[in-house]
Amino acid sequence: MSKIILTGDRPTGRLHVGHYVGSLRRRVELQNSGEYDKIYIMIADAQALTDNFDNPEKVRQNIIEVALDYMSCGLDPAKSNLFIQSQISELTELTFYYMNLVTVSRLQHNPTVKNEIQLRNFEASIPVGFFTYPISQASDITAFKATTVPVGEDQLPMIEQAREIVRKFNTIYAPVLVEPEALIPDSEACKRLPGTDGKAKMSKSLGNCIYLSDSADEVQEKIKNMFTDPQHLRVSDPGHLEGNTVFTYLDAFCKDEHFERYLPEYANLDELKAHYTRGGLGDMKVKRFLTNVMQETLEPIRNRRKELEKDIPAVFDVLKAGTEAARETAAQTLSEVKSAMKINYFEDQELIRQQAEKYQA
Ligand code: TRP
Repeated sequence: MSKIILTGDRPTGRLHVGHYVGSLRRRVELQNSGEYDKIYIMIADAQALTDNFDNPEKVRQNIIEVALDYMSCGLDPAKSNLFIQSQISELTELTFYYMNLVTVSRLQHNPTVKNEIQLRNFEASIPVGFFTYPISQASDITAFKATTVPVGEDQLPMIEQAREIVRKFNTIYAPVLVEPEALIPDSEACKRLPGTDGKAKMSKSLGNCIYLSDSADEVQEKIKNMFTDPQHLRVSDPGHLEGNTVFTYLDAFCKDEHFERYLPEYANLDELKAHYTRGGLGDMKVKRFLTNVMQETLEPIRNRRKELEKDIPAVFDVLKAGTEAARETAAQTLSEVKSAMKINYFEDQELIRQQAEKYQA
């Protein structure tokens, strides 16, 4: 069976380092591993509209931001198919048929939906479009017969919901759809990278994100002000690692080789942590090291973005070509879905013959 990746992001803002360690970095590795037959990366604008229906301009403005972030991280249109969700009407059509396979109570119990309803104060009145977006997400995944969906941990309930839809469809109609597997980061730090203020949630409104497109100065400034251990007042005090954002970021970003380059007194992160907890290691020194590590990671991304920004129409052309190719695949699956459901009347010679016989008899 072929190995196919599908994943995507809602275009509601520029992508940040949480997206990077949570999924983007992995996608690029998978892309370059050569192990996958097809890779689809989707800008989920239709899904973004489910909770931004009153602000389509925000979604519209962020399409290019996400595309630039994707490509500057190393997603290569020659290897990965980048496309825009709303331009593939087949996805919407699939959603309509999958809706029959999902109950209201199942959606109500989807932990991601529950969480987001709270977050958005939707308790009193939940838009139906928002409520059903897990079904639409199942269409995104299954339209491309994706086997592998690299996502953040918060998306696990979405993949589970998609798997249920696949099983139900295949049982009731015919085995057309493929059950996807989620691929989530293996380290805790990458699963849930906190904001620079130590808050669990990174958000634009909290101003606690480091964006992939931030300048070197912005990155330096944000790390300088990063939350550490409030009890670590003097350098000589023993420091705590638990909830210490600087160390969480080091967990997510630093490799042993960074020590050789930037902090050769230590062989690896374990040694640095041991010194910090013992006492005698100042926050500023650790922050300087983190700055070096992150600049090394972000600089090539920033530079590639600068290049891509010079020709924005070319980026839209990439998305257009990707969308056209993706649409063909989605149309093929939709046609198989409709055959399985036997709602392909005009191609169904057996139906036509049968009905004719019924009336000729
Ligand atoms: N829900 C994802 C997010 O919020 C975006 C998304 C939409 C997605 N459709 C998808 C991710 C399909 C993986 C597969 O980031």
